[in-house]
Amino acid sequence: MLSLIQEEAFSSTYKRALTNDLISSEDTSIIFFDTDKLEEKLQYLKTLFPESTHAIAIKSNPLIVNLKTILEYGFSLEAASMEEIELAKAAGAENHQIVFDSPVKTTTEIQLLAEQLKGIHVNANCIEELDRLKILQDHVVGLRINPLVDPGSPDHLSVSRSSSKFGVPISLENEIIQAALDYDNVQCLHVHIGSQIDDLNSLPIALERILDLARIINQRAGFKKIHTIDLGGGFPVNYQLDSVLGMEQLRENILRRTPQLFSEYKTITEFGRFPNAHTSWMVSEIEYELSYTTPKTIMVHLGADSFVREIYSFQEKHRKFILSGKDYSIKKGQETAYQIGGPLCFGGDFLSRNCLLPKVEKADKLVIADVGANTFSLWSRHCSRAFPKVIAYSKDKMEIIKSRESYTDIINFWS
Ligand SMILES: Cc1ncc(COP(=O)(O)O)c(C=O)c1O
Repeated sequence: MLSLIQEEAFSSTYKRALTNDLISSEDTSIIFFDTDKLEEKLQYLKTLFPESTHAIAIKSNPLIVNLKTILEYGFSLEAASMEEIELAKAAGAENHQIVFDSPVKTTTEIQLLAEQLKGIHVNANCIEELDRLKILQDHVVGLRINPLVDPGSPDHLSVSRSSSKFGVPISLENEIIQAALDYDNVQCLHVHIGSQIDDLNSLPIALERILDLARIINQRAGFKKIHTIDLGGGFPVNYQLDSVLGMEQLRENILRRTPQLFSEYKTITEFGRFPNAHTSWMVSEIEYELSYTTPKTIMVHLGADSFVREIYSFQEKHRKFILSGKDYSIKKGQETAYQIGGPLCFGGDFLSRNCLLPKVEKADKLVIADVGANTFSLWSRHCSRAFPKVIAYSKDKMEIIKSRESYTDIINFWS
């Protein structure tokens, strides 16, 4: 499968938005969100892991329409903060459709969970937290374990080292077992080993270790105290191809190491990047071309405000950039190197330092593929620029689901 932004898809969708009068002159950049693509990914997950509850990570794309579509599909949501729980509720989530993973839950928040949010699945990040969570008698509580495996993720996305702030290291086996036995409401073990996992054996190895723990806890308890395993997320996305290859391999690897997982335990997954990344693309006007830099620089309206993580990590980016001509068709032809400069007053604000594109001309646009996960969801306020308009579309429908921020919105944010 090709990347989401195929020639047809971009040209016809952009022209459709123009025809429907959805784009105005102030829209120097726009986010397009393909709900059919989201459903395709959710269906894929459901087919491959039919036994599991899929709680999609809100942090990777908190647009309410995205969350609503996920819920309407019968999926759940993973919330990393109280605010994300509120987003889930605003999208229509029932309590039992929410998995709460904040690593810094306060006693006030826990009180609220006990009184008003019964039924939410709550994962504890450390043993100390279990003492605070013991008032949750109408909730399944999980304990996050750091399985100490190497997922092969990029450094900043790997959370399974001994220095990780997430989960109790599995080396503290006795403490984990004792805690799981001491607290009645602990009925789940949780892992999330990292994002953009490179080694598809790492999660299966982690699960094997987790199931060993669950077996010991259940044996000592004398009943199936641990009945749920939360596998976390982390499945990688290919930013050059819209490819799902590998997920079958992941299931196969899991079943080889832990054949009993899906039959003996309830399971939860928390994928974020996988279902969301290919659902969206962004388009920006090319405002200027600076011919005196080497290579030449095109100046666009999206930068470190919407690509926070990758731009501030100062590594060359993996994005797929496409040039559209003034008739909205994808430009082809001999390519030359360009820098793609963002709009922010900061020297590192480049989407790329060396991007091969056909010759850029007046009124061309830059299209950025596969931006549905962990891009605009990390929106930064540097230079206080407006969050772009979001247009959602499917085969049958196209509408503005979020207006471009106004000057008043920005003033309100800072007031
Ligand atoms: C606890 C937890 N679960 C799930 C996810 C989603 O991970 P991914 O988007 O890599 O699938 C994250 C991401 O940070 C996470 O911290």
